[in-house]
Amino acid sequence: MNDSITRTLAVAFTICLVCSLVVSYTAVGLRDLQNENKLNDERKKILQSANMYDSGSSIASQFEKLEMRYVDFSSGKIIDSYKDFNIETYNQIATTRNPLLSSKVPTSEDIAIIKNRENVGKFYIARNENGELDKIILPIRGYGLWGTLFGYISIENDFNTVAGLEFYSHKETPGLGAEVDNPKWKSLWPGKKIYKENEVKLTVMKGQVPSDAADINYKVDGLSGATLTSRGVSNMITYWFGDSGYSKLLSELNYES
Ligand SMILES: Cc1cc2nc3c(=O)[nH]c(=O)nc-3n(C[C@H](O)[C@H](O)[C@H](O)COP(=O)(O)O)c2cc1C
Repeated sequence: MNDSITRTLAVAFTICLVCSLVVSYTAVGLRDLQNENKLNDERKKILQSANMYDSGSSIASQFEKLEMRYVDFSSGKIIDSYKDFNIETYNQIATTRNPLLSSKVPTSEDIAIIKNRENVGKFYIARNENGELDKIILPIRGYGLWGTLFGYISIENDFNTVAGLEFYSHKETPGLGAEVDNPKWKSLWPGKKIYKENEVKLTVMKGQVPSDAADINYKVDGLSGATLTSRGVSNMITYWFGDSGYSKLLSELNYES
């Protein structure tokens, strides 16, 4: 009787049911932890982009020291409230799918291939012990070879010198485009200048920047074997520091300080 078909099916069904319950329960139970880890990873990158990350203390406590601010991209003005949404829970990437809260980037201007730009952007200000603005940390994104790279770039308080660059999400190939995460390549960014005579001049070159290159402060070595990812990074710098990105905000901040 023990090997009847009904019994075999019942045992198989019970095992399947138990396994699926365990998998579903674990997946649901771990979801919050996964989201928390993802958020912490992004926060760590935000801190790292400004050279402020200290592995010895909690990310949350370090992150709290940053001032979260919002910019209305059309005017470059910092805003503290917005009529159309709760600014505290604002997710600017999700917002790009909402036509009421984002604007389509005309194809001719969409060099970073972001398609829609949110009307309001979130950014961070780091202050020194005297309360003076020390660095500003700006989210940037743009298409590489396989998908969109999402990152943060931090700028010194002259509003023109790069303090650091970090990506927290991308789909580029390990060993090629994913070398955007290589500490050696990231170390080439601090000190580079963005604007020259009000134009975005900072670019990622193809290959190495010759030591005697003109405007060397505006040039970063390309990633070898990853010209398309390098071009993507270059394009996102051009887009986000241009007119529909942060240029108005940086002028406002420069004017105020
Ligand atoms: C499997 C595979 C993965 C690749 N991944 C990347 C990548 O992540 N980023 C990139 O720019 N090029 C990548 N490439 C290379 C591009 O197809 C292209 O050849 C390269 O960007 C040209 O760069 P180069 O002029 O520096 O060789 C990949 C190629 C292959 C075959």
